[in-house]
Amino acid sequence: MNRMETALINSPPRRWLQRWYEAPWLRRLGGPLPPGARVLEIGCGPGYGTRLILERFGAAHVDALDLDPAMIARARRRLAGYGDRVRLQTGDAVDLRASVDATDPSYDAVFDFAIVHHIPAWRAAIAEIARVLRPGGRFYFDEVTARALSRPTYRALFDHPRDDRFTAEEFRAELHRHSLHVGDQWRTLVGGDYLIGVATRR
Ligand SMILES: C[S@@+](CC[C@H](N)C(=O)[O-])C[C@H]1O[C@@H](n2cnc3c(N)ncnc32)[C@H](O)[C@@H]1O
Repeated sequence: MNRMETALINSPPRRWLQRWYEAPWLRRLGGPLPPGARVLEIGCGPGYGTRLILERFGAAHVDALDLDPAMIARARRRLAGYGDRVRLQTGDAVDLRASVDATDPSYDAVFDFAIVHHIPAWRAAIAEIARVLRPGGRFYFDEVTARALSRPTYRALFDHPRDDRFTAEEFRAELHRHSLHVGDQWRTLVGGDYLIGVATRR
């Protein structure tokens, strides 16, 4: 991420949006987690979403990872009070075997707060998410589409991969290809710039 986006992600408005808009939408679409839920969060950034997963969705444990060690350091400070309910690691969502202990499909849920559109090989990340979710497990996602990423303002302010970005339909089709069923638990927002939803692993 460039400096502008890093500053934005670490700002009070980002936390406000996550708490009062994204998390309520995700809860409305996917409901709370089952008791004792073990969750993976990819691209946790500074860890505010991790806190919401614990507090608002009722996760028992969260494994959270991010490619950027500086983000993990911030998240570690933010989440220190949760003890061993949270495990933070630097890692790549495209290859989870290298970071979290996810050799089996063992997670009850995976959360993606606005990270997959940052990944050049985003389809490989979806395959990894499907691989680590147990049957019946849920994938909560909140994403930015090609439509938003191609806007001049987005391109001027932020730095994202440009090739092979996805529309809402393409994202949903890729989920289905990996047995992640969305049904009607998704919405596009702001005229199709964003999509939010919950898929269930078949
Ligand atoms: C837009 S920020 C979102 C951060 C946080 N989830 C939030 O919603 O505030 C995207 C995050 O994804 C991380 N990231 C990008 N590519 C990644 C990858 N391949 N694996 C793990 N994290 C990645 C970045 O370092 C950054 O912290």
